[in-house]
Amino acid sequence: MKIVKTVKEVREQVAQWRRQGLRVGFVPTMGYLHEGHASLIDRSVSENDRTVVSDFVNPMQFGPTEDLQTYPRDLAHDAALVEAHGGDLLFNPEPDEMYHEGFSSYVDMSVLTEELCGLSRPVHFRGVCTVVTKLFNIVQPDNAYFGKKDAQQLAIIRHMVDDLNIPVQIVGCPIIREADGLAKSSRNTYLSPAERTAALVLSQAVKIGSDMVRAGTVEAAAVIGAMKEHIEAEPLAKIDYVKMVDVATMQQITVLDRPALCAMAVYIGKTRLIDNFFTQDILPEGN
Ligand code: PAF
Repeated sequence: MKIVKTVKEVREQVAQWRRQGLRVGFVPTMGYLHEGHASLIDRSVSENDRTVVSDFVNPMQFGPTEDLQTYPRDLAHDAALVEAHGGDLLFNPEPDEMYHEGFSSYVDMSVLTEELCGLSRPVHFRGVCTVVTKLFNIVQPDNAYFGKKDAQQLAIIRHMVDDLNIPVQIVGCPIIREADGLAKSSRNTYLSPAERTAALVLSQAVKIGSDMVRAGTVEAAAVIGAMKEHIEAEPLAKIDYVKMVDVATMQQITVLDRPALCAMAVYIGKTRLIDNFFTQDILPEGN
């Protein structure tokens, strides 16, 4: 496994693989890798001849009051994990390699970015779309792997590659959870022991909501109401949103008459965590 810092080195390596007729998979990350990222790398390794992982804390997707400076970083740990899971190339650029002086081109999507996390993180998806487009142009992968925990991000990237005719297959992969249900996230490291326990309200709310949908509840308000009631009973939790949206448009729905995403963002102390379920993943086909 090779670690490279420049766009040129990635391009040269990928071009060499292309000359050999190899398929390239790509896992974009912001580093501080955990089992969730490992599952994406495993999937890429199983479906491609070579796997590139990017490890770049993208300043453009953080708002001015967000955690860019404190976002956890550990390149040695990340490199060991990528190597152990069979990745071939780790791209770890410095910010000025990705954003040279005078950088002024952005990928800015409307509609899908205007709901859910887009409301409380107004610059976030512009930063994500811009950096992911750049990474796709640099790596030019056949397949790219994203976790379903960032469900809105996944929907936006699928839409973006379709809108902009970017020739890459987007693969959405299941949420990986701790044994007690908490969705794996690099930000879980911010939690104190008491907050770590309190954070379980997210996955518990996912269970409450998904059980109701499985049992036949179709009113979004009933499902969301029960989930919110559970979260609000935890003193360390503060809801940003719990919403049911159409999976294709990310616009809110009132009745579960089409494939839906039930997504939430909740502050546990100062740490903002997200979790979700897709109705398609829990209902038998045809519902
Ligand atoms: O999901 C993430 O870790 C980031 O948003 C991504 C896709 C790597 C872009 O910086």
